[in-house]
Amino acid sequence: MSHTPRELFDELAEDYETMRDELDWSPFEHVQCAFKDFPLQNKHILDVGCGTGEIARLLQKEGAHPFGLDISPEMCMTAAERSENIPFLPHDLNEPLPFEDKRFDAIIALGCLEYLPDITAVMDEFCRVLKSDGLFLGVFERCGDDCPDGNTRVVTFLDDWKRYRLPETEIHQMMRARFENCQFDRVHGFILEDTGEHTQYVRVIARRRPS
Ligand SMILES: C[S@@+](CC[C@H](N)C(=O)[O-])C[C@H]1O[C@@H](n2cnc3c(N)ncnc32)[C@H](O)[C@@H]1O
Repeated sequence: MSHTPRELFDELAEDYETMRDELDWSPFEHVQCAFKDFPLQNKHILDVGCGTGEIARLLQKEGAHPFGLDISPEMCMTAAERSENIPFLPHDLNEPLPFEDKRFDAIIALGCLEYLPDITAVMDEFCRVLKSDGLFLGVFERCGDDCPDGNTRVVTFLDDWKRYRLPETEIHQMMRARFENCQFDRVHGFILEDTGEHTQYVRVIARRRPS
């Protein structure tokens, strides 16, 4: 039987933070890198694919007002139980974002866009809800000759879970068409189950293109 990301992450919610450590996936270094020159005090920050809310709590400690979205109601519930005064809303990123234009100072998308078969529409939505000088931080799983699965764009993980990869040039084009001042870095993702190799990601820190 095939599982949807929602079903799988619902099952993983309770133990996600332990599993994240074991797989060597650390979202925190990306947050530190993106926000080192961006004062967080009173900033409204959307964290999509927020999981158990670890990043949101980190941002709140720095004085920001985070808002978490995740397709998994169990993840949202776990995040709410472990946090205080942070909203977490179940929402599928394949659907339009439930926010007015220019609502957020920054958007974070870490470890979640690879579960969407097509991210074109959600990238447009990110631009819509970001303020004119807003900052976007995301990681995109990449494929390529130097990656463990080569140029394969769709891989299965944990038996029947699909993850979608993009060639690096497509990631650059997609971002440059929507944002200005894009900064791209190659980074490692988590350890692949069988091979022990790390998945390959591109980290993007970008400013919204003023409309
Ligand atoms: C690997 S976890 C990453 C959690 C956190 N951002 C981190 O970096 O540790 C991926 C999260 O993305 C969420 N997710 C997957 N597909 C999604 C979708 N279509 N819409 C919203 N969230 C989604 C999952 O439920 C899960 O909580």
